[in-house]
Amino acid sequence: MTDISRILTPEAEDDTEVVVDRSLRPHSLDEYIGQRDLKANLSVLLTAARQRGDAADHVLLHGPPGLGKTTLATIVAHELGANIRYASGPAIERAGDLAAILTSLDERDVLFIDEIHRLNRAVEEILYPAMEDFALDVMIGKGPSARSLRLSLKPFTIVGATTRAGRISSPLRDRFGATYRLDFYEIPDLTAIVERSARLLGVELSKDGAVAIARRGRGTPRVVNRLLRRVRDYAQIHGDGRVDAVMADRALAALEIDHEGLDGTDRKLLAAIIQKFGSGPVGVQALAAVLAEEPETVEDVYEPFLLRLGFLDRSPQGRIATDAARNHLAKLGYEIPAPRRPDGEQPPLWENPGSDTPAR
Ligand SMILES: Nc1ncnc2c1ncn2[C@@H]1O[C@H](COP(=O)(O)OP(=O)(O)OP(=O)(O)O)[C@@H](O)[C@H]1O
Ligand SMILES: [Mg+2]
Repeated sequence: MTDISRILTPEAEDDTEVVVDRSLRPHSLDEYIGQRDLKANLSVLLTAARQRGDAADHVLLHGPPGLGKTTLATIVAHELGANIRYASGPAIERAGDLAAILTSLDERDVLFIDEIHRLNRAVEEILYPAMEDFALDVMIGKGPSARSLRLSLKPFTIVGATTRAGRISSPLRDRFGATYRLDFYEIPDLTAIVERSARLLGVELSKDGAVAIARRGRGTPRVVNRLLRRVRDYAQIHGDGRVDAVMADRALAALEIDHEGLDGTDRKLLAAIIQKFGSGPVGVQALAAVLAEEPETVEDVYEPFLLRLGFLDRSPQGRIATDAARNHLAKLGYEIPAPRRPDGEQPPLWENPGSDTPAR
């Protein structure tokens, strides 16, 4: 089932997509496209650790979904010539679960913890000495005779990933030797990613076709890879399977993705702010209620790209739809009521046609 309003969501859609993600994943830092500064810094860290024969420093990766955090974790292990274990914050329920994982790691192994901001408190406390001293503190016995025993672990590297750096407690954050932020990708990098994926999937894709897809990819590799697959299907049914700009444009129009790369949900979100809340400010709770989404989803999934496009502003009072957003929707034929002005702001002159003497 394809809900076209969700086609641009940067989160993995389902298990099939997780499998496709994996098959398209670059394996080495050289194959990884874009994020140049991050790559340069990470390369120094990994090369130095490898030369010394030490476990690399713990690495924290943060940024919006679908930009390549899990991919980078895999690359870290590959570049170190080490094994990687995958875990995720919410899946490690008890301190004992984490202790079991930690004691099973080999020297210089990589432990990837996805959604690390969702580790619970008791589990997090096991992690502190483990990260700092490669030590595991175990309590034996109960009551007054209880005592703690320190076991030593083999040196290892934690790669943590999160979409919400702000949710990580500061003691945990401080234990990472390096923190990298992933940013949305520019069009040339996204174009290169689409071209690489097309090669791997055996899709015949022209340069202008790749650019057309990259433009609508909201800066996100997972999204461009998904669009490529949808466009390939369309080209197979409505053409001879080859994808050029004309074919890509037709396919993307059929998916209701506009030329700024917004899908139905993005437009619904902006239209809600503009039409129901006088262009804002409106709190994220109210906005989420109108869209029947969780506030977290609105903040993590929809807002980052709209903020980056300059269609949305955040103020202490809430979200504001910008003039750029109003113009974009106006061009698409949406009704655009006058914005509600924040209290105390003077009306601009052009909104006061009754008076021909300028105020003051
Ligand atoms: N720099 C890149 N070059 C080529 N492909 C990339 C790059 N970054 C990501 N990808 C592709 O994008 C897809 C999504 O990447 P990945 O799963 O690593 O994202 P993520 O940041 O972990 O997302 P989430 O927050 O949802 O876990 C993968 O299929 C990967 O192949
Ligand atoms: Mg991931």
